[in-house]
Amino acid sequence: MTLEIGGALILIGAGNMGSALLAGWLERGMDPETIFVQDPGPSDEFISFAQRRHFKLGADASALPHGPAVMVLAVKPQIMDDVLPRLKPLIGESTVVLSIAAGRMLAGMERHLGGGVAIVRAMPNTPASIGRGITVACANAGVTPAQKSKCDDLLQAAGSVAWTNEEAALDPVTAVSGSGPAYVFLLAECLEEAGVEAGLDRDMARRLARETVSGAGELLRQSDEPAEKLRENVTSPGGTTAAALEILMSEKGLQTLMTRAVKAATKRSRELSS
Ligand SMILES: NC(=O)c1ccc[n+]([C@@H]2O[C@H](COP(=O)([O-])OP(=O)(O)OC[C@H]3O[C@@H](n4cnc5c(N)ncnc54)[C@H](OP(=O)(O)O)[C@@H]3O)[C@@H](O)[C@H]2O)c1
Repeated sequence: MTLEIGGALILIGAGNMGSALLAGWLERGMDPETIFVQDPGPSDEFISFAQRRHFKLGADASALPHGPAVMVLAVKPQIMDDVLPRLKPLIGESTVVLSIAAGRMLAGMERHLGGGVAIVRAMPNTPASIGRGITVACANAGVTPAQKSKCDDLLQAAGSVAWTNEEAALDPVTAVSGSGPAYVFLLAECLEEAGVEAGLDRDMARRLARETVSGAGELLRQSDEPAEKLRENVTSPGGTTAAALEILMSEKGLQTLMTRAVKAATKRSRELSS
């Protein structure tokens, strides 16, 4: 089904995340004529992308009679205070603002844009760049069910979407799924290093670690079984996997480390929020 949001979309920021979302929207058949992109220094690659796909890069969006249906904010969190006041005049009565800026809270954005503005705050993660992200979103009181549904459709172009009514949940969300891809990449690094220690050459260890982490991830995605069951399925009593898991699942093993890591990231997310 073609992605349709009942009006224009303005995307502010065409960096990693903004361009990944945009690619997903175009792939889902969104009309490029309705998409306005603003970015002060788009890359050459992005400029030729705009020429190929005919969305409006750098075009004046202030002429939109009722404002856009959705304005997506994909700029770095630290420049939001400068950017928001300039965007306020572009917002119409039925516009919903969808921000993916990490740590920028709904109340702070409302202060800049006005209390009545409909705002959704969302936290995606990097697999969004291949359409395999997970995003958690939270709407303010001004967001109508129809606006929420538009934001859901737009975010689904980057993968799965979940909603929460508790904005505070976005701190542990950031710690689990936002930062989570880095933990998985670290797992691949550690597995590679351990393989070298165990006698494999570097290239072989790297290849085995990469394929094992990505293959197991794909198996988990395609299976209806929980991770625990998949783990049990490959663990024979007294076998090699059981020997390794005895270490990983010991009292100071992976669960203890992961719990500490997620707690630290949650705390840092709270400290950085504004
Ligand atoms: N990447 C992730 O995994 C991830 C995950 C969750 C959330 N996020 C959030 O997504 C947002 C974007 O992250 P990103 O990784 O895509 O950053 P990014 O690659 O730096 O993209 C930001 C883009 O915004 C542009 N920009 C700067 N000032 C602007 C302005 N005044 N108006 C319009 N565009 C402007 C930047 O241009 P210049 O480069 O020329 O400054 C850049 O192209 C951040 O708020 C981040 O917290 C990212």
